[in-house]
Amino acid sequence: MAFETLIVEVTDHVCLIRLNRPDALNALNQTLLGELAQAIGEASFNDAVRVIVLTGSEKAFAAGADISEMAEKSFVEVFTSDLFADETDAITRCRKPIIAAVAGYALGGGCELAMMCDFIIAADTAKFGQPEINLGVVAGMGGTQRLTKLVGKSKSMDMHLTGRFMLAEEAERSGLVSRVVPAKKLMEEAMAAAQKIAEKSALTSKAVKEAVNRAEELPLREGILFERRLFHSLFATEDQSEGMAAFLEKREPQFRDK
Ligand code: HXC
Repeated sequence: MAFETLIVEVTDHVCLIRLNRPDALNALNQTLLGELAQAIGEASFNDAVRVIVLTGSEKAFAAGADISEMAEKSFVEVFTSDLFADETDAITRCRKPIIAAVAGYALGGGCELAMMCDFIIAADTAKFGQPEINLGVVAGMGGTQRLTKLVGKSKSMDMHLTGRFMLAEEAERSGLVSRVVPAKKLMEEAMAAAQKIAEKSALTSKAVKEAVNRAEELPLREGILFERRLFHSLFATEDQSEGMAAFLEKREPQFRDK
């Protein structure tokens, strides 16, 4: 499927989605977010895809929602259309692992999009920010919630209230990103991480994703119960038998997602 604002390719079980609006630093407009929701939906149903990598350009992952498209909208329009809610829900509903590979600017909706992914690998050039306050609005795609859960209230307030940018080193120290790599190595590292995940049982990686995401939603006791029952249920799978047998037989497991 050809897209206007994305470049999508599937190789070795990894679907690489590149945001592609170079003239606007990948600003997220209706077309781009609609296409992204569609591309992720297609990857979800494509058996050849086990992991998704989402990236932008060297200069920008995405510099936020498209301000020129938003500027003239009224309250009634954004409220009635629930601006970008369907698209972002579609992205976060994906059950396959999604890695964000971020270089350059990840601002506003760009930072929020990266945080919708399962983890973020950042180039040393990455700059994260929630500068919506400079536009007279607040974050609208989950930033006040997800950034606060990731980096804590103090840093999140600082970012949202001052609109300052956080560089890659601080983002790693604060828990916003899982690792920082030299910009030249970003795609190599992200694809290697994706490949590592693709070699595991896709059934088990879905279970991991469900369990870790529960940590955001549930009280500790409920989350631990959810995890425990999920752990128990995996003993009904062939991949559990195979994984443990392979360990004991000192060989690599052959997972079949069953
Ligand atoms: C539309 C944008 C854009 C954006 C950049 N561009 N960001 N267009 N929406 N968010 C465009 C510029 O207008 C310019 O187009 C081109 O991209 C290059 O940008 P420059 O500003 O010339 O580049 P530079 O001087 O390097 O500055 C980079 C920057 C700056 C610091 C990232 O562009 C910037 O501050 N952008 C806005 C960041 C922001 O406020 N994001 C939050 C948006 S609100 P031309 O045609 O002039 O060359 C948001 C809310 C989400 O995300 C919630 C929605 C529900």
